[in-house]
Amino acid sequence: MFLKNAWYVAASDHEIGRRLHPCKVLGEDVVLYRKQNGAVAALEDACPHRKLPLSMGRLLDNDGVECGYHGLVFDCSGSCVKAPGMAKPAKQAVVRSYPVAERYGLVWIWMGDPDKADPDDILNVEHWGDPTWGVNRGDAMTVNCNYLYLTDNLLDPSHVSWVHQTSFGNSDIVGHPLQTQVDEDRVLVSRWMKNVEVAPFYAKFVKFSGNCDRKQHYEIRVPSHAVIKAIFTPAGTASDTEPFHPDVFLMDSYNFLTPVDESTTRYFWFQLRNFSPDDEEVSRQFARDVRHAFEEDRVVLEAVHAGMAKSPSRLNLPQDAGPLRFRQKVQALIDAERSGAPVPA
Ligand code: FES
Ligand SMILES: [Fe+2]
Repeated sequence: MFLKNAWYVAASDHEIGRRLHPCKVLGEDVVLYRKQNGAVAALEDACPHRKLPLSMGRLLDNDGVECGYHGLVFDCSGSCVKAPGMAKPAKQAVVRSYPVAERYGLVWIWMGDPDKADPDDILNVEHWGDPTWGVNRGDAMTVNCNYLYLTDNLLDPSHVSWVHQTSFGNSDIVGHPLQTQVDEDRVLVSRWMKNVEVAPFYAKFVKFSGNCDRKQHYEIRVPSHAVIKAIFTPAGTASDTEPFHPDVFLMDSYNFLTPVDESTTRYFWFQLRNFSPDDEEVSRQFARDVRHAFEEDRVVLEAVHAGMAKSPSRLNLPQDAGPLRFRQKVQALIDAERSGAPVPA
């Protein structure tokens, strides 16, 4: 069960060209391709005749997709426009088409009611296109776990001290209390840690020496998009109200978790930073180190999914408060969507 009326990331933009790209989103098989005019189209990936995936057929020069079994041709709205051997295609010869939009180097798809799809509802990425900020453009991986184990993980700043000891975390930050804030469309877990060591991943980049004040801002927005902000400022300069110290290190990590099905997630991400906007080597280093750290998450979360599937646990720790609030929020939205009841506040 997934929230359907929401934008999810289906692919990176460079993956989609003049060929048929199969993928699965919220348990539904979809075929993506780029039309002659450059726009992306998305169709249900199953021919209505004998359910051969359309992605096993052929993309035609007129942007139609020809089934590879008996040659039915569908246009990008999903209508059958050619049925070899028949004067006119049968009425049932139709496939679903999905609204799509491209933003931030990603292809977004709407799996719910097409009339409700508004690309303006795609999450806003602060600092995107800001010439003073650098970006390491996206990467992706498949994680063999339910997407909610990833949202749990990305609302849990404490895990870095154990899962990412050599990168994002260190023992200096264990035990600092967390604040949890629940809003209409998001849950935010955050904490300041004063006068602590700079963790290894960031130490290469911060402009100041000595200890730091560090803020972890872990936020998940409905349906499953994480905005993780890292703030490192010289020890003694932490503030939520004053302008940042001139040497502050800021990194905003955007993480988009697309359920493939109940036990698989496609994980897309990119990061923005407030320094070295044009330094490709810094971008490469970020990309490499982030991927390494996310592989550490992948190993843990796949084992968690397998362990919980075998023998579920009801034991919760204090740091589970934020993740559980997000799970409740998503479940309430899914229930409302399915029953047609008003969306809960
Ligand atoms: S299975 Fe597609 S035309 Fe027969
Ligand atoms: Fe992690």
